[in-house]
Amino acid sequence: MLVDTYGRVATDLRVSLTDRCNLRCTYCMPEEGLQWLAKPDLLTDDEIVRLVRVAVTLLGITEVRFTGGEPLLRPGLTGIVQRCAALEPRPRLSLTTNGIGLKRTAAALAAAGLDRVNVSLDTLRPDVFKTLTRRDRHADVVDGLQAARTAGLTPVKINTVLMAGLNDDEAPELLAWAVENAYELRFIEQMPLDAQHGWKREGMITAGDVLESLRTRFTLTPEGDDQRGSAPAERWTVDGGPHQVGVIASVTRPFCHACDRTRLTADGQVRNCLFAREETDLRAALRSTAPDEEIARIWRLAMWGKKAGSGLDDPSFLQPDRPMSAIGG
Ligand SMILES: C[S@@+](CC[C@H](N)C(=O)[O-])C[C@H]1O[C@@H](n2cnc3c(N)ncnc32)[C@H](O)[C@@H]1O
Repeated sequence: MLVDTYGRVATDLRVSLTDRCNLRCTYCMPEEGLQWLAKPDLLTDDEIVRLVRVAVTLLGITEVRFTGGEPLLRPGLTGIVQRCAALEPRPRLSLTTNGIGLKRTAAALAAAGLDRVNVSLDTLRPDVFKTLTRRDRHADVVDGLQAARTAGLTPVKINTVLMAGLNDDEAPELLAWAVENAYELRFIEQMPLDAQHGWKREGMITAGDVLESLRTRFTLTPEGDDQRGSAPAERWTVDGGPHQVGVIASVTRPFCHACDRTRLTADGQVRNCLFAREETDLRAALRSTAPDEEIARIWRLAMWGKKAGSGLDDPSFLQPDRPMSAIGG
């Protein structure tokens, strides 16, 4: 098991498959992109599958989420999914993606064993999408969402970040559209994880703002805490149900006490928290003759030192050196 000194047990593994992305969301990456990881530094497909196997067979991981960067840019994605789906015990497999290219790949990913997807979409307006992501790909994302639903990668969840003055008036519209299309919408508070270090607490749209805006059009009934478990999203039933909407208040209502996550970067570093300033190298062990048990031991040690909280509210908080896209969101 992956236990920390506060008694939390990590069962959910986020695996970043690449730090590259084909969008340039303003809250994530600068227009010119970033210095990408060098190919030899990236874990190979075999190395990723081996680490997932160690996590599942020796460390109690039951959920694996592939992310990035943009995981659909990883050429071997379908094969990685297929090999992870063949593991015993079989982990639940999901993908966080911007949806570009999903129209083409959703059916193959489902056939390979992917269970479901989270697609990021911040706006219903193509012009706002272009401003926010610096790319004119809104229609591709909408097509990708539809393909995911058709392929049975359900529930299809949508991740939305609202930005003041850009798309913060769209919450009710987005929810109405999600309900109509059977997507589960989750709003995520903007976090200080952008490469440009441009995040400001004063300017962010909070969970409270989102709920106030949604309540102008919908009746929201909170889901009981007993049903939330370690899920980061607080959920509300919309207009009596069955549809629900989630809000991930990472900044204003952090859920660190119930965190069940461990993260693996595309270059083989374990992170015990999105906001951690330290990483633990597994790649060196992988590329030596270390047996699985030794890799598991290093991973356990990395998780043992997990801090109680993200430290966001501490005046001495320092943003991690790597941005969200390089950590794996
Ligand atoms: C970093 S992306 C990686 C996966 C994939 N490319 C995608 O778009 O979903 C994962 C999620 O992180 C979100 N994200 C990126 N930077 C963020 C930030 N500073 N605060 C909150 N969410 C952020 C994105 O909107 C997306 O939903």
